Amino acid sequence: MIPFLDLKAQHRRIRPKLDAALARVIDSGQFVLGQEVSAFEERFAAYCDTKHCIAVNSGTSALHLALLAAGIGPGDEVITVSMTFVATTAAILYCGAKPIYVDVDRDTWTMDPKLIEKAITSKTKAILPVHLHGLMADMDPIVEIARRHKLMVIEDAAQSHGAEYKGRRAGSIGDAGCFSFYPGKNLGALGEGGAVVSSNRELARRVALLRDWGQESKYHHVLAGYNYRMDGVQGAVLNVKMDYIEEWTKGRRAVASEYDRLITFEQCKRPAPPSDFRHVYHVYAIEVDRRDHVQKMLHAAGIGTGIHYPIPVHLQKAYSDLRYCQGDLPVTEELADRFLSLPIYAEFQPAQMAQVVEALAEAVPSMAI
Ligand SMILES: Cc1ncc(COP(=O)(O)O)c(C=O)c1O
Repeated sequence: MIPFLDLKAQHRRIRPKLDAALARVIDSGQFVLGQEVSAFEERFAAYCDTKHCIAVNSGTSALHLALLAAGIGPGDEVITVSMTFVATTAAILYCGAKPIYVDVDRDTWTMDPKLIEKAITSKTKAILPVHLHGLMADMDPIVEIARRHKLMVIEDAAQSHGAEYKGRRAGSIGDAGCFSFYPGKNLGALGEGGAVVSSNRELARRVALLRDWGQESKYHHVLAGYNYRMDGVQGAVLNVKMDYIEEWTKGRRAVASEYDRLITFEQCKRPAPPSDFRHVYHVYAIEVDRRDHVQKMLHAAGIGTGIHYPIPVHLQKAYSDLRYCQGDLPVTEELADRFLSLPIYAEFQPAQMAQVVEALAEAVPSMAI
């Protein structure tokens, strides 16, 4: 069996450091925020090349608070994409605002900047691009349009720790960037976690207040806030993993370039990141005809795969009130039918790679039968 994700392999290697970090938190008694979380915030801000990092309890909370701190509220519209995890849309709705979807680019699979201006109305307050699978959206035109129309830009960087766009880090280009540290992410906690990064001091101050009940000092509440604080344990774990994030990212990129080299059959379209983007391959997805059939064949060969994502958000039952229909976002819908994610992690072995590519080569020609 080749699992789609192998966190056990990652944790086996760093287990003594994790054990020591957990013991430190237990001994310190700082279970919510505290020194470990502050130390992590400092390191992660530096890693993202931003002035501030505010650690929270999930990527969804990060998006919610970044939007609130950016002034998004009831009646506002936020331009985003539907090819993402539902949390992007949910966070907009939590603010009382409305997501307005634009389609994604056929080659990069991220927000198509050419479609943004047509979607802007008098109610539009922000643009929320998603750096899908670890590849950043085309940020220059997005920011240029936003500045011209006086809109905020919030980056959903939940899948893109350390990704770069023309030399700039994910989270550092918009007004704020939002990360998830869900265990399977490129930087994963031992439970839930997230962070907002920003170089805007006032925005960061508001996020920090909102995550902790809007308290300026104990029992002095200046904003109606939330309990979105990060646990001390997660801060300590993430501090340990920060020592490895670059090595793991290089490992993922090496696996991806090996897939690129070996998957040469025409029926599989591989990701094609522009050369001045640093893709961090949270997901290595290919496009393939008769995807469900290919996925079944790979599973029969003992290979775990995923689909990110099989039903775009605008076609999910939970969001039918938004009144989008099949056909509204043709590229997104086509990709949802064709995406297939292959196993990728820093510890992936060459023999496993050979097995996946061989099984894929067998599954693909059989499609013609
Ligand atoms: C693109 C994207 N946005 C937001 C989230 C939400 O993050 P979390 O699960 O930490 O709340 C995720 C997590 O899967 C995600 O992939």
